[in-house]
This record gives sequence, C-alpha cells and structure tokens, in this order.
Amino acid sequence: MSTIATFDGAPPAGTINLGIGQPSPDLLPVDLVREASESFFDTAQALELNYGVAEGDARFLQSLAGFLTEGYGATASADELFETAGNSQALDLVSNVFANPGDTVFVEEPSYFLAFQIFRDHGLNIVGIPVDDDGLCVESLREELRAHEPAFLYTIPSFHNPGGQSTSAARRQQVVELAEQHDFLIVADEVYQLLYYGAPPPPAYGTMTASERVVSLGSFSKILAPAMRLGWIQTSRALRDQLKGSGFINSGGSVNHLSSHIVRQTIHSGSLASHVEKLRDAYRLRVAAMDDALHENFRDIAKWTRPEGGYFFWLRFEESLDTTPIRESARGAATGFQAGSVFSSKGQLKNYLRLSFAHYSEDDIREGIARIRALF
Ligand SMILES: Cc1ncc(COP(=O)(O)O)c(C=O)c1O
Repeated sequence: MSTIATFDGAPPAGTINLGIGQPSPDLLPVDLVREASESFFDTAQALELNYGVAEGDARFLQSLAGFLTEGYGATASADELFETAGNSQALDLVSNVFANPGDTVFVEEPSYFLAFQIFRDHGLNIVGIPVDDDGLCVESLREELRAHEPAFLYTIPSFHNPGGQSTSAARRQQVVELAEQHDFLIVADEVYQLLYYGAPPPPAYGTMTASERVVSLGSFSKILAPAMRLGWIQTSRALRDQLKGSGFINSGGSVNHLSSHIVRQTIHSGSLASHVEKLRDAYRLRVAAMDDALHENFRDIAKWTRPEGGYFFWLRFEESLDTTPIRESARGAATGFQAGSVFSSKGQLKNYLRLSFAHYSEDDIREGIARIRALF
C-alpha cells in the first residue's frame, strides 16, 4: 500500500497503538463490498444516482428492517427507520433536531469522548451520570433529574465505550419509565449491539420504540466498514418525522444514498450476516489474547472485567495514578492506549485507561500489552 494516511492518528510502522478503536485491515471486507457494488451496478438505473428521499431508500429501509428483526430478535418496521451517515452524524443530527443551544444533556461517566465534542458544537451543557458493572446507575439518574431537565440522555447500553459493560434489561426499562415521566429522550448509541462473543446483550433500545422517548442509533461502521459512512436511527414515527424536517436533510436528501444501495445487496445476499459471524469469531480470540496478556502483565497493578462484546478493555489503577503522562511516554515506546480522563465529562477518571483489541492481531496485542506494562 502507498504511504497515504488512511485515517487520522494512523500510527507509524512498527507501533502497536492499542488506543485505536477501529477494525484491523484483515477485517475490512474488500471483496464483499466489491461484490455488493457489482451486483448493484449490474442493474443500476440512472435515477438511483439521484438524491434519494429524506428518510432513505424504501428498499434499503425494508432490508434493514429484516436485518434488525433478525439481529435484535424483535420485529423492526421500515417506517420507524431513518438513514444516517453513521452514529457520529446521527449524534450531530439529534443534537440539532432534539435540543437547543444552552440545553442540558446527560451522558454516562465515562462515555465515548468524541460525542462530547459533538454536543459542545451544538452549545449543549453536559452532565455526567455514573455507571457501574450493570451499566447506567438509575438512582444517580433519578437524583440528577431533580436538578436538571435534560433534552436527552446519551447512553451506550451494550458493550460500552470505554467500560465494556452492558446496562441490564431491568435498568433499561427503568430508564424508559423515567424518560416518560420527566419528558426527555433516550439517545441510545447501539453501535456494538451485534458484536457479542458469548451470549447476546439485553434487548436493544431499538426494540422499545413503542415509547416515544427512544431514539436508537445503529451503524455499519463496526459490522461492515467505517468507510461506508452509513447507519440508521430507529425511533417512533413521530420522532422520525421531526428528523425529516432538518434543513440539511431537506437540502441534501438521503444522506448516503449510494452506500445504502450497496449495503442493501449485502443484506440480501447474506454476506453481511456471514461477515458479522466472522467478526465475532475473530474478536472472541482477540479478547482472550488481551485478557491473558493482561493477567500476565497487569494483574498486580490493575483491575478489569473481561468484556463479552464490543471493542474495549477498561483498566482501573490505584487512585493516585494518572495515566495521561504515561500515555505520552507510550509514543516513544512504539505503543499506545487512551488515557482515562478523556472519557470523563468532568476531567476525572485519571486512574483508568482504555485498550482496544479491534485493530491488531493476537500476537500484536500480546506484544503491545508487554510494551505498555514496561512504562509503569
Ligand atoms: C460509542 C461510539 N459511537 C459512535 C462511534 C462512531 O460511529 P460511526 O462510525 O458510525 O460514526 C463509535 C466509534 O468508535 C463509538 O465507539
């Protein structure tokens, strides 16, 4: 391959940066996307290269409904789906449509750090709600609702980024009840819902759209390829209609019409479902390799829970340790991780770090962990 930068933060050759939460090249399915593109272009009609309709091509939404019905184990309906360019764009869209500058939004503490910037771009104030091994702490949510009237709660219910844990089914139900009582939306980022390596996680919020408080975000980034820039919002018809009214959508139509044609083929042919199986098999082995390497190297100084899905391990160290300067020194040691504090909306969690097993082989994972351990 040429030396062009393939993504921001791409590491120099020889570096094993376990901070990178992206798929490794061997799990990006070039042949699958080529075949799906060919089957679309073999019969493509000229108008399929036009803008497309706001909510997404009806055939794509129908295929997606079938895929989600299968994947989430509950009937999904095409008229509750809205095409997005992935969860990042969806977060930008919901911040625009469902909140106003100056509004408060609740996030989990910790949470996906790049979402903070999207919310701040929209002038939203962020309030963190703690999580534990069972996910979002409903008692803390209840307490914060005494002080704030959030536009929405942003939650990563399954295989959390960075925590790895899943919010229990009982808590999800309680969150929906609170959302109805206090009139806020639940923006559920379900990007890892289908990436389970043992038992599936509790039912997605996407299966709970009978409540008009649920906005579930899904993406093809982690189950197919980030370059597709394609995802979806699953929500009630009423909220979907509000999304259709955004100026960006009005002007540009379907956000990624061409990708949706290609992805539709992967659903029809079954190649997407087979690819998800392949990912589960590959990541299951990487989780085991990382867990073993951590036991070998970090057992004396850190605590963690082995994740059952997603991309991440979240390590906790003694209170006085700050992982931020160690991360700086990791560069010189040809390795890397994400420091805990970036995942905090309050500049806390300094004694944590996040590792991803998605971007490297098992051998590289073992070597990367050994290099990181040498920095402590
Ligand atoms: C929790 C979470 N949300 C959103 C994204 C980005 O999603 P997309 O590629 O669909 O924009 C990521 C990627 O790391 C993520 O971990």
